Amino acid sequence: MILAAGQGTRMKSRLPKVLHRIAGRPMVEYVLRTARSVNPDTVTLVVGHQADMVRNQLAAQPGLKFAVQEPQLGTAHALQQAEPVLAGKTGTLVMLSGDVPLLSASTLGRLLTTHTAAHAAATVVTAMVERPYGYGRIVRSASQLARIVEERDASPAERAIKEINSGIYAFDLAPLWDALRGIASKNAQGEFYLTDLVAIYHRKKLPVETLVLESVYETRGINSRSELAEVSKIVRQTKNEELMAAGVTIIDPATTYIEQDVLVGADTVIHPGVILEGQTRIGSACEIHANVRIVDSEVADRVTVNNFCLIVGTRVADGASVGPFAHLRPDTVVGEGARIGNFVELKKTTLGPGSKANHLSYLGDATIGAHVNVGAGTITCNYDGERKHQTVIEDGAFIGSDSQLIAPVKVGKGAYVGAGSSITEDVPPGSLAIARGRQTNVEGWVDRKKTVKTAKT
Ligand code: UD1
Ligand code: CA
Repeated sequence: MILAAGQGTRMKSRLPKVLHRIAGRPMVEYVLRTARSVNPDTVTLVVGHQADMVRNQLAAQPGLKFAVQEPQLGTAHALQQAEPVLAGKTGTLVMLSGDVPLLSASTLGRLLTTHTAAHAAATVVTAMVERPYGYGRIVRSASQLARIVEERDASPAERAIKEINSGIYAFDLAPLWDALRGIASKNAQGEFYLTDLVAIYHRKKLPVETLVLESVYETRGINSRSELAEVSKIVRQTKNEELMAAGVTIIDPATTYIEQDVLVGADTVIHPGVILEGQTRIGSACEIHANVRIVDSEVADRVTVNNFCLIVGTRVADGASVGPFAHLRPDTVVGEGARIGNFVELKKTTLGPGSKANHLSYLGDATIGAHVNVGAGTITCNYDGERKHQTVIEDGAFIGSDSQLIAPVKVGKGAYVGAGSSITEDVPPGSLAIARGRQTNVEGWVDRKKTVKTAKT
């Protein structure tokens, strides 16, 4: 069971709390991944506040069941919603919290081992933390877990307790549903607290175990934006550590933001301020310079991306070089050894192997062959106000600087376009096209003008 029905009031958000993203992925997906690590019979998510949004986000999760909690009357009430789903089942129910995303698969495994070995009715995951503020506190009597008291209901002495409830539990299903019905809502929030189950079991002399974690960060719950930022930082650090251990140089891990699914090959160097998002793969021996953002793109080996580039939905082949200040938009392919220089934008464009567009260009809806030279300031005029049109530039062509290629148009193999041309018609292979006003030199014009001026004054 994963609880995810609460509003998350402290987030002050329209988005349900569990859909807030950590390193690019909704926090509840971290919890789901951990849950699946122990191969449970069923996984049920309790949804309530903005249930449809949560359900839609997780629609692709195989076999995930949903239970709806409406209204949301507290964590015990949330768990009760699972009774219909689990009716008749025996065994162990693990309860996770949608807002505690860092719990590891190995800790979850340990929870199950501890719980099973102790034949406990319930096992609570706890941790000793320096700043217990906001968490339920573990009250022990003669070292036995006696009850859990929430921050708001705690006495000053109880607030000083540093052992906290992580909100993660294993339950024996047999006594659970009856016991849940015994929980009242007499507390500061008027909610049905699952934590009260511990006192009930204690009174009934049912065995309640704890698994006390040494790691304080796995149990970090997210209730506010500031906690979201803290947890995100831990996740990023972990990702960066993994990559460095695998042979990636990250010059300043503190300012490098790499999302969970991103792959980076060995001997690639990542400079400060780089952001790698989504399904991005970077090959080996690449150099990604400072302040580059790459989203859902594939970058092969030995590629250099210079400073301040935005690359989205693009494939960059081996040995190519991009930037500084380049913008590669979706469906762009940069061929092997090709070069894209400063202030160049590509969209739905293939730039063939060894081709160059080094300065100040817009190339959209274009197919550009191998070893083409695209001069400074070249623009494909792909849009007529209603529709987009294609530009084709064949292998070895040379486009002179400041040319406009008014699409649909084709420049044939090896053809030249004179600088400053506005090309409206296809250029046959091997020919030179010049399409600009012919230059007129008016000799002696300046002197004559000066003479006229002098005569007037
Ligand atoms: C809860 C625990 C607290 C523990 C902390 C750990 C209780 C009463 N308190 O407090 O002891 O230290 O977690 O992070 O259980 N939810 C529902 N339905 C509801 C209420 C909550 O599904 O009616 C879900 C929330 O979406 C969330 C989880 O349960 O995922 C925890 O709820 P939250 O309100 O954040 O509880 P805490 O105050 O953090
Ligand atoms: Ca919480």
